[in-house]
Amino acid sequence: MPGEPVVEAAGLNVRIGDFPVLTDIDLTIRKGEKIVLIGPSGSGKTSLLRVCAGLLSDRSGRFELFGSVPATPGQWSKARRRMAMIFQSFNLYSMRTALDNITFAARELRLGSEAELNERGRDLLELVGCHGLADRYPFEMSGGQQQRIAIARALIGDPELLLLDEPTASLDPETIAGILDLLTQVAEGRFSGRPMTVLCATHEMGFARRIADRVLFMEKGYVVASGTSRQMFGGGVSDRFLEFVGAMAHQRP
Ligand SMILES: Nc1ncnc2c1ncn2[C@@H]1O[C@H](COP(=O)(O)OP(=O)(O)OP(=O)(O)O)[C@@H](O)[C@H]1O
Ligand SMILES: [Mg+2]
Repeated sequence: MPGEPVVEAAGLNVRIGDFPVLTDIDLTIRKGEKIVLIGPSGSGKTSLLRVCAGLLSDRSGRFELFGSVPATPGQWSKARRRMAMIFQSFNLYSMRTALDNITFAARELRLGSEAELNERGRDLLELVGCHGLADRYPFEMSGGQQQRIAIARALIGDPELLLLDEPTASLDPETIAGILDLLTQVAEGRFSGRPMTVLCATHEMGFARRIADRVLFMEKGYVVASGTSRQMFGGGVSDRFLEFVGAMAHQRP
């Protein structure tokens, strides 16, 4: 059962310069819950993920992470150690090997000894299906393999909160299926021993239906509809949401 709040926002407004990227957001994510963000380009999905990661600070309204208001850089870095983000563009270090990409940040944060982190890194390589790729550089790996390495990197610090920003948007349809299977296992806690708390922006409607406890439909910086996956996809909550889902389905092969 979902537990205490991991993210809590109420009447949250966020600006970038003069532009209101998020307006009047109410959102509670409890431990173990999976929330999916759906919405057209520019609706604020990435911005909401970035707020949670402490990357957008011009905000007003209530915002709490792990039960307290992160204010100082020290509080933010403490909160960041409890979360990990996976991006559309993988964001691996091009000059580091796969294993080094997985372990590098954990080493900087002294999350374990060199030997411990290398062992855990190698275990994670296996778990994400990248056996034998430890010494490869990003340019020597496919997009799907790079994203698997990014997933392993996200898991090495044993995060409580996983922030996913369109993690399959740069991949081909066959590769997408494999990565979504892997992310489903990650979300269910297959590799961490406990269900993860997840906030995920995606255009993959099947995946959204599968993992979402709740779906937030965003437009122009507002959450315009929300409900359980069944409520949202089943109809009756938002015709505009179903219209968007229908349009996405037409784009897919
Ligand atoms: N650094 C920035 N400076 C100014 N405006 C920005 C900046 N980053 C984002 N925005 C604006 O904020 C709004 C929300 O952008 P955001 O990236 O959160 O949307 P999104 O839902 O993630 O879109 P997409 O599906 O294309 O990734 C957009 O209008 C965008 O132009
Ligand atoms: Mg985005």
